[in-house]
Amino acid sequence: MNSNVTLHRDFVISEIDDRLYGAFLEHMGRAIYQGIYQPDHADADENGFRRDVLELVKELAPPIVRYPGGNFVSAYNWEDGIGPQEERPVRLDLAWHSRESNQVGIHEFADWCELAGIDMMLAINLGSRGIDAARNYLEYVNHPGGSAWSNLRIKNGRQQPWNVRMWCLGNEMDGPWQVGHKSADEYGHLANETGKALKAYDSDLELVACGSSNPDMASYPEWEAAVLDHCYETVDYISLHMYFTNHADNLGEYLALNERLDRYIGSIAGVIDYIKAKKRSRKDVHICFDEWNVWYHSVEQDKQVLQGRDWPFAPPILEDLYNVEDALLIGCVINTFIRRSDRVRIACIAQLVNVIAPIMTSDDGEAWRQTIFYPLYFASRFGRGKALQLAVDSPTYPAGELGDVACLDVAAVHDEPQGVISLFMVNRHQHDSLDLDVALEGFSDCRILDHQTLDHSDMKATNTEAQPTHIRPSAGAGLAIAGTTSADKLQGRLPPLSYH
Ligand code: AHR
Repeated sequence: MNSNVTLHRDFVISEIDDRLYGAFLEHMGRAIYQGIYQPDHADADENGFRRDVLELVKELAPPIVRYPGGNFVSAYNWEDGIGPQEERPVRLDLAWHSRESNQVGIHEFADWCELAGIDMMLAINLGSRGIDAARNYLEYVNHPGGSAWSNLRIKNGRQQPWNVRMWCLGNEMDGPWQVGHKSADEYGHLANETGKALKAYDSDLELVACGSSNPDMASYPEWEAAVLDHCYETVDYISLHMYFTNHADNLGEYLALNERLDRYIGSIAGVIDYIKAKKRSRKDVHICFDEWNVWYHSVEQDKQVLQGRDWPFAPPILEDLYNVEDALLIGCVINTFIRRSDRVRIACIAQLVNVIAPIMTSDDGEAWRQTIFYPLYFASRFGRGKALQLAVDSPTYPAGELGDVACLDVAAVHDEPQGVISLFMVNRHQHDSLDLDVALEGFSDCRILDHQTLDHSDMKATNTEAQPTHIRPSAGAGLAIAGTTSADKLQGRLPPLSYH
């Protein structure tokens, strides 16, 4: 089966914002405690951070990390996490039915981010709290000194402000499961007033308003329209979330789920344009896709903790073990973000460590990479630059409600300063190879710098602590550059169910 692709160096979708390869860490499960922070681990540094985890995070190199929630943030008092660690209160976390020790707060997390070379994106509690807690938090985090909250930060050991640029105005406020859930009008009003207060301190902050938790919400997409009607001029982004499942064990439909994501992004882009027109605004609002991943493997086993009467500390919840098909889907999802990078500026894989995560730990062993680590790694490393417009002529296959989808899922990024084009490709066909022909218009004297591939005969194969490198990329074969009079071409064969 032939798949023809044409790209041109001048046909650009958008300059990709590096933050498209962001991540998310929530106070829940073993993400923070026993994940990034475990003072009694053999590989912990003097501050309790696990060096093995830090190394893998640095490999993924997310430029930004959203923190501290998630559902957790909607009943979080940020002040619980400052001051001497031994005096901090233990609280009950209503979102995840756990005990929160507050041993990690803003100081410890900021230290970890500095070690990892990651910027913070802080979420504020608009569930159980409001404007006052938010403005105090901003003053504590960003003001140099000479005010009550900034002086307290200095007293607590941090002289320089952290100068955090991105702030999320709550989390999933459309969800009835959220502590302090609100109607779109209630939330839109609060987001606008809170945003105004934060921008009264610093008009250059970037603010994110909550969009829908997923496109199955009854309030979608009216939620976005109503919320933006209140706060369009105040915020810079509307957030979206999406988690992918394969409960029906239907591989073809599963691997097509990024088409659903694409429609979700397209619809919300339309809502943004509608509100912009309605308000006669000159300002743009972009999408911050600040939670996305596969999440379903662990759902049954977590019921015991989430519905139980205990309040465990750092329970192993949402520990999905990812297989090869999950890695292929993650590759397709990232391709969608690249192709939509004109509207989606920021995206955060949810999450980073242990909780639905590419990086896993055991309490006494070494950190290891899940299958999904690899498409994230390749995109973060080689997906920075300009997203190129592609004309794709690929055979299709029927994917249930999503209709016919292309067997070849492909995105291309041009890193102009380095003179590198990166093609990210997934052959979604379950039996047939694709004979690939990519016309590289506007490029000449091309050569293949590297070709890495991920595939396996068993789509359900995983990595585990005992076999941490069972699934890993290998050098690809069978692609070559052919020079023609009009343009160079990349040609070769992509085996079924493979990532390149
Ligand atoms: O990432 C896990 C949870 O998923 C987050 O806490 C919440 O925002 C979403 O529902």
